[in-house]
Amino acid sequence: MASIDTAVEPSDSAVSEPEIGGVRRRDFINVAAVSFAGVGVVATVFPLVNQMNPSADVLALSSIEVDISAIEPGQAIKTSWRKQPIFIRNLTAAEITAANSVDVSGLRDPQTLAERTVAGKENWLITLGVCTHLGCVPLGAAQGEIKGEFGGYFCPCHGSHYDTAGRTRKGPAPTNLAVPEYSFLSDTVVKIG
Ligand code: FES
Repeated sequence: MASIDTAVEPSDSAVSEPEIGGVRRRDFINVAAVSFAGVGVVATVFPLVNQMNPSADVLALSSIEVDISAIEPGQAIKTSWRKQPIFIRNLTAAEITAANSVDVSGLRDPQTLAERTVAGKENWLITLGVCTHLGCVPLGAAQGEIKGEFGGYFCPCHGSHYDTAGRTRKGPAPTNLAVPEYSFLSDTVVKIG
């Protein structure tokens, strides 16, 4: 038969607690518990703060480097940057001439080809592949796609035409195709972003 422990715990006031460095044991336990709670708060907050910093893959997406060595004059490629399509086009001499022969004062969004390209590399037209009307991806970058009435790009959604400098020439697009921030790392590598 199990015995019943009838021992009675002494009351708090009746016990003289050992001291640790001048702090009673019970106080020490309380301090320790609060300290651990503090560590818990730090450990909880850090991941939240850490989540607010851009992750490595987001940082990687903030700029891209593109090898353009295989893009022949008259060709273009599509790539993507920050989840948006990018057109990189190597203009022919005739396309450059066509772009430069336009009286920009008559354009809806007046810009010269030189203002939309890098000095000395006016043949490289780099734009977002996003129609400035309502955001469709225009045709004209891929082989065989129609380029519109002005030889640049054509947006089939509502019929916007862009010229060989990516400028809006006809249709509802209010502005030229946007030019992202970019620089040439070499003659064959361009960094976008
Ligand atoms: S989205 Fe391109 S013309 Fe409307």
